[in-house]
Amino acid sequence: MPQLREAQGPATVIRREDYTPPAYWVDTVELIFDLDPAKTRVLNRMRLRRNPDVPAQALRLDGDDLNLARVLVNGQGCSFKMDGSTLVLESLPEGHEPFELEIFTTCAPEKNTQLMGLYVSQGTFFTQCEAEGFRRITYFLDRPDVMASYTVTLRADKARYPVLLSNGNLVESGDLPGPGNEGRHFAKWVDPHKKPCYLFALVAGNLVAREQRVRARSGQEHLLQVYVRQGDMDKTEHAMNSLIHSVIWDEARFGLPLDLERFMIVATSDFNMGAMENKGLNIFNTKYVLANSATATDTDFANIESVVGHEYFHNWTGNRVTCRDWFQLSLKEGLTVFRDQEFSMDLCATPSARAVKRIEDVRVLRTAQFPEDAGPMAHPVRPDSYVEINNFYTVTVYEKGAEVVRMQQTLVGREGFRRGMDLYFQRHDGQAVTCDDFAQAIADANPDSDLARLLPQFKRWYSQAGTPRVHASGHYDAATQRYTLTLSQSCEATPGQAEKQPFVIPVAVGLLDAQGQDLALQLVGETVPAGTTRLLVLTEPQHSYTFEGVATEPVPSVLRGFSAPVLLDMAQSDAHLLHLLAHDSDPFNRWEAGQRLALRRALAAIRAEGPAPTAPLDNAFLDAMRSVLRHPALDAAFKELVLTLPAESYIAEQLDVVDPQRIHAVRETMRQQLANALFDDWVWAWEQHKDNGAYRPEPVSTGRRALAGLALGMLCLAARDSGDTVWPGKTYQRVKDADNMTDRFNALSALVVSGHALARDALARFHTLFKNEALVLDKWFALQAGAPDRGGNVLPAVRQLLAHPDFHLKNPNRARSVIFSYCNANPAAFHREDAAGYVFWSDRVLEIDTFNPQVASRLARALDRWKKLAEPYRSAAREAIARVAAKPDLSNDVREVVTRSLAD
Ligand code: TRP
Ligand code: ZN
Repeated sequence: MPQLREAQGPATVIRREDYTPPAYWVDTVELIFDLDPAKTRVLNRMRLRRNPDVPAQALRLDGDDLNLARVLVNGQGCSFKMDGSTLVLESLPEGHEPFELEIFTTCAPEKNTQLMGLYVSQGTFFTQCEAEGFRRITYFLDRPDVMASYTVTLRADKARYPVLLSNGNLVESGDLPGPGNEGRHFAKWVDPHKKPCYLFALVAGNLVAREQRVRARSGQEHLLQVYVRQGDMDKTEHAMNSLIHSVIWDEARFGLPLDLERFMIVATSDFNMGAMENKGLNIFNTKYVLANSATATDTDFANIESVVGHEYFHNWTGNRVTCRDWFQLSLKEGLTVFRDQEFSMDLCATPSARAVKRIEDVRVLRTAQFPEDAGPMAHPVRPDSYVEINNFYTVTVYEKGAEVVRMQQTLVGREGFRRGMDLYFQRHDGQAVTCDDFAQAIADANPDSDLARLLPQFKRWYSQAGTPRVHASGHYDAATQRYTLTLSQSCEATPGQAEKQPFVIPVAVGLLDAQGQDLALQLVGETVPAGTTRLLVLTEPQHSYTFEGVATEPVPSVLRGFSAPVLLDMAQSDAHLLHLLAHDSDPFNRWEAGQRLALRRALAAIRAEGPAPTAPLDNAFLDAMRSVLRHPALDAAFKELVLTLPAESYIAEQLDVVDPQRIHAVRETMRQQLANALFDDWVWAWEQHKDNGAYRPEPVSTGRRALAGLALGMLCLAARDSGDTVWPGKTYQRVKDADNMTDRFNALSALVVSGHALARDALARFHTLFKNEALVLDKWFALQAGAPDRGGNVLPAVRQLLAHPDFHLKNPNRARSVIFSYCNANPAAFHREDAAGYVFWSDRVLEIDTFNPQVASRLARALDRWKKLAEPYRSAAREAIARVAAKPDLSNDVREVVTRSLAD
């Protein structure tokens, strides 16, 4: 059946304030699946009862793309009607006794291109139910506050689907008896925990598993399994290790044990997002499971550790305690991102490695979430309304949400936060709750904390969208030996929120003396100094803090560790920034000082009249960069972060009017200058960091490989200017003989990015080597689609990549590797004067929307910031968005995005 959409009415807006409890509870669900790609039959037997707290009303069950065969109430046929795709039962037994409802439907998994509900990927059945996919499997109360006990029986052909998995524990399995069942078998699973239907999952196919038994502190044994396709077993060790570390960490840090006999991870190559935390049966994008040193980079290894941790930690933060409604999404996502960030940091052996992880997380926040918060899709961490919930799995809900949890930990301390988490689970285990319930538990467990004192105001972080701006200015009074820091705050209007009330902003501050040492800090009114970093909690629009006993004018280090998700405005001299870059004991601010120095130079060159300056970088800056690069004590990973210039997208956010070509040209000139001026230092860095022994994905050698990779890229850039062929030759050799993917790919991208003639051969060779490794081919496609534009050459190359025999538009990873790498991650190639990039974008959005609205809608956001663009880009972008919006049968997903984008 073609997927025709219903006639376009006005989109239904769902509002948080309209929440009402469900009219019925579902206590138990028994599901029996006869799995067949063309026509799967689903028998759904539920025990329901009326919710006594709600006026008596009809039962309305959600459904989507289902064929309904039969409905029985207590074993008897009954009358029902359809309201659109909703199944309505009006004459149900009266009173509050439980009754049995049996629904028999069929669906067509092999035609499911949206990858929501039950679908087939490479011959294996998978499900994806969050947020509203369960209704594509059977009629149900598809909302997270309806929590039920599930028993699931899977029946399928034994040869094609030898492995049959669902949530919980396997209680029975075997061959199916009787005529018509030749060659078929079954498995019956019981989940001992109640859950909302979005956590339901099944997998059926021909898979193999890496297994590991672990013993918990309680002595209970658990079986951990990582299921993959035959042939991928040699890429499962790291995911298994990450899972074991996750189990141990959650018990050690939060006292949260694994609550199942068996915990399974299954990998699929067709997946809309990263991974999904289905109870006891996590389903993952292969990108976040499969890795060995030959096919995966250090970044892949780190991402796998984070995502495995993330999904595992959801078992408590999301599954045991779930969301009352989807507006509370950050209750589980923000908290679980915070937990996976802390997990990765705790696995680091050194403070420097922890700081590197923090800097990487902040970089994501600032390059992706800040723009979202300043654009047409800006929304609070707890949104007030949506048209399509899938559009709200955003960096705001996830990453800013994690910062909001982190600030709570900062305000009550690490131990206080643990007490708060304990209270949260004591109060809410087994419940579907709200963001308010979470913050209340953290505050109640710490009654004397600033958080408890300021809770209603603190919760504005959940309700107000937009990135607050903190303005800081310092004044030193030599006569009184006092230093006064004045902080003020403001926040721009966001769509639908004109007025903003002041936030509670924890600002960690230190003061450095002329030698770069931290001063002991004593605020006026205190009798003794206390510590060298003080947490100032800004609650008013403006407040001044005075330190005493400051013998000489200090250099302030403000917002240490990025203690709040804000934009910091501070007039800092170059001298102060250079001092911080050389000495700050806070690694975050040390890195930040270098970024500010670079950003200041980039912005000056971008804003300069006439053609872009040919040498935006001065010797003071270059010398400072050289000192960091050659520093005897700093870690390689940290050096690599300092020596990487701010991203084009981050630079763009600092400007009122954005000319992507100009930004690109200036940043490239800066890179070229850094490459040439530090040539000898790059040679040194390469020689010192290129050899790292047997590959291990741990922070020290990861940092060394990153710095070696940066050095090689710089050496190829320098070679382009000088006409040198030695370094490109060495780089090509590295593509050929590297013994791990990180080094190999860094070398390949050094050639591609510098535009050297050897890049062609290197790309061809790389393709031949890895033509059977889907995840490596994704990198190969992405590198080319993200390559620096030379005279408009990237778009034609992208069109050719789409015609490549290995390109598959319906596979989200592959589509992203070409189309998103071009539209989202290659601004100078995408924003063309002839608007051809935008036309390409609108064509792809419309094309993908016909079969996978979720992926299309993510792509639709590539032009979110069109209003900031300079002409001719601005008008051309609006036209392209309008062209998408004019299409009559858009999905809700894409329609919501383009409508918001074009608003006022
Ligand atoms: N809850 C998942 C996570 O954060 C992500 C998720 C939500 C998802 N909706 C999805 C994954 C749809 C795949 C498809 O871990
Ligand atoms: Zn999550």
